[in-house]
Amino acid sequence: MTIMKAPSNVNLASLHTVLGMLTLQNKTLTRGSGSATFLSEHFIVTEKWRPSVLDPKNLTQRYERIFNQLQELLQRTDNRIARMATVASILHHKMPHYFWTGFYLFSNSDLIVGPYQGPLACQVLDREKGVCWTGFLKKETIIIPDVYKFPGHIACDSRSNAEIVVPLLDERGQAWGVLDVDSKTRDAFSPVDQHWLEKIVGLL
Ligand code: SME
Repeated sequence: MTIMKAPSNVNLASLHTVLGMLTLQNKTLTRGSGSATFLSEHFIVTEKWRPSVLDPKNLTQRYERIFNQLQELLQRTDNRIARMATVASILHHKMPHYFWTGFYLFSNSDLIVGPYQGPLACQVLDREKGVCWTGFLKKETIIIPDVYKFPGHIACDSRSNAEIVVPLLDERGQAWGVLDVDSKTRDAFSPVDQHWLEKIVGLL
């Protein structure tokens, strides 16, 4: 736990705004992946506070660094499981808006979970329903701002609110799986995420 003094030139109301929080004084709030308790002139950060979504410039810079790092790391082996595990781990731990990060792979007419990071996932997805199947069958990236408004969405964890699914295509354009990322934050994913995730799956 960290106790920080609010900067003297910032009043608490604007500090709350800076942190992107709606708050009443002395209430504990949770947003993004951290929480903070506000007292009259101090705020206590109970975990490292991180923004729930980065601004587009920071997001692009972070994806650029991750992409370069992955290009290097993925040279070590041709093994697809190892490569997918590396991608899931790097993305999950470097992106503040990611809650579940992983792969579903097509096998015997099913989409079966592959390497992932985050809470326990469904192992097999009900056939031809939900966001992953839609991205897989359409061979298109799907961005869902609010999964609860997506008919047929499969909720492996009720804390997920937004989702992006990127198809994995072989050299003949056949889909062999999807990269799936969930966020607790509604409307967490943008065309910036789409652009970089499509580049990243191209490395597999
Ligand atoms: N929500 C997905 C299922 C996979 S989980 O999000 C990990 C879907 O609707 O296909």
